[in-house]
Amino acid sequence: MITLRINGEKHSIDVAPDMPLLWVIRDIIGITGTKYGCGIGVCGSCKVLLDNSPVQSCMIPVSAAEGKEILTIEGASENLQLLQQSWVELNVAQCGFCQPGQLISAAALLDKNENPTDEDINEAMIGNICRCGTYQRIKDAIHRTVELKNQN
Ligand code: FES
Ligand code: FES
Repeated sequence: MITLRINGEKHSIDVAPDMPLLWVIRDIIGITGTKYGCGIGVCGSCKVLLDNSPVQSCMIPVSAAEGKEILTIEGASENLQLLQQSWVELNVAQCGFCQPGQLISAAALLDKNENPTDEDINEAMIGNICRCGTYQRIKDAIHRTVELKNQN
């Protein structure tokens, strides 16, 4: 049995230790906000936070996540919630498929850097591909989130 902590809740599952974390989160546990894009670590749509660091969950064996805090797009960190508010306000998503991974990377950035520059954002978001080309709106929404945080 492997026990995972996802968005503050414990889940005990009986799976092979080398099953990718993404499979477990989506197919075994049924939390489906995290998306399967490429399955080979290049698109970023499967990103989750593992102890506050963004990881590609398609590349991580589930055993490596045991004992760590996993945050998915359904989670409730302050930055993630404010980012989602800005995403809606600025109408960032187009097809939406890449957006959970984009939001996870953006949340990890704001957890470490309260006022990122455009360059900081470019660097932090480098592993997140958007086939709809929403990059500029993502950048604007991250800056908008900083404004919202400063108003609170
Ligand atoms: Fe994991 Fe693309 S599905 S990086
Ligand atoms: Fe369509 Fe990013 S919004 S892939």
